[in-house]
Amino acid sequence: MTGTKRLLRSLKGETLDHPPIWMMRQAGRYLPEYREVRKKAGGFLDLCYNPDLATEVTLQPIRRFGFDASILFADILLLPQALGMDVWFESGEGPRLAKPDTMSDFGDLRPTAEIHETLSPIYQTVRNLSQELPRDVTLIGFAGAPWTVATYMIAGRGTPDQAPARRFIYEHREEFDGLIDRLTEATIEYLSAQVDAGAEVIQLFDSWAGSLPDPAFQAYSLKPLVRIAENLKARHPGIPVIVFPRGAGERYAEFTKHDCFDGISLDTTVSTKWASEAIQPHLCVQGNLDPMLLEIGGDMLEQEVGRIRADLSGGAHVFNLGHGITIDGQIDNVHKLIELVRK
Ligand code: CP3
Repeated sequence: MTGTKRLLRSLKGETLDHPPIWMMRQAGRYLPEYREVRKKAGGFLDLCYNPDLATEVTLQPIRRFGFDASILFADILLLPQALGMDVWFESGEGPRLAKPDTMSDFGDLRPTAEIHETLSPIYQTVRNLSQELPRDVTLIGFAGAPWTVATYMIAGRGTPDQAPARRFIYEHREEFDGLIDRLTEATIEYLSAQVDAGAEVIQLFDSWAGSLPDPAFQAYSLKPLVRIAENLKARHPGIPVIVFPRGAGERYAEFTKHDCFDGISLDTTVSTKWASEAIQPHLCVQGNLDPMLLEIGGDMLEQEVGRIRADLSGGAHVFNLGHGITIDGQIDNVHKLIELVRK
């Protein structure tokens, strides 16, 4: 298998002597060179829609750290924007979304075929990256899961417990089902276009999967994710799909029952010992260092990296964090982490 990229080997189920490594949010504000380009771009969304600058910030962590994989620089909230919602970022606060006056409910979203008009700069960034990345680095495309994206569309912002969206499920079931359907369909088109442009792996971020009660979890997290992964695989045979159902707890095991996933990203709460028995025999696991340890460093970082590696050394593993690196993550600690993983 020499010559095959390490991340792809792990996702095919190979156990390697040391796991490939990348980090969620590896391009971001903890890097001074990111903050520099971000200033030049104007707003965060301007950066996402500028292929030259988005390519540049995607490449920054690869140049600095030499990760095994690179994740497209974009955001999960670009899709609702492409579907016709107003999206903006309040500085120091986070995302805001609103329906324009012409839209009375989510049934009025733009047709799926029209999303590419807004998203074509993102595909250009993917094309740039597939040209410019070093040959041994894997390019990951991504999208938000329908449920997670819906939580922002319904609340109009990030919320601690996704209460507005959970309430909406009970009070407007039909409209909610329609919204999840539309998001599922549009996500398939969006990701398919990323693969056409050169993405070699797809990651689906269901960051708020954990807030769904059962059986809503089955219907609104698992089912749409399976539909997206199956459709992608039908169109692009062999495209590896990683799923990140953050906070899903014991429901992580549900994902092993479907052939359409190749990897699953563990959040920090998942026991690596449990995952090595319940998940790893079926799927490559990714994770799951506490991002806080990149603020702390020292012996704690070393111990935890050692523990995670040991627990997951019996099967396919991609080293990653349990969630994105924080703004206070220390560059020195990232270097240390990579050294520890590759030791
Ligand atoms: O991982 C990467 O390096 C690739 C780029 C990426 C971003 N967002 C860039 C970003 C990815 C994969 C995302 C996914 C994303 N976006 C998720 C799912 C993953 C997760 O974190 O749970 C979610 C929920 C969002 C929505 C979003 N985008 C929020 C809530 C915020 C504000 C909070 C924050 O961290 O500022 C963003 C902004 C955002 N997305 C930034 C970056 C680098 C910071 C914006 C800035 O530069 O000011």
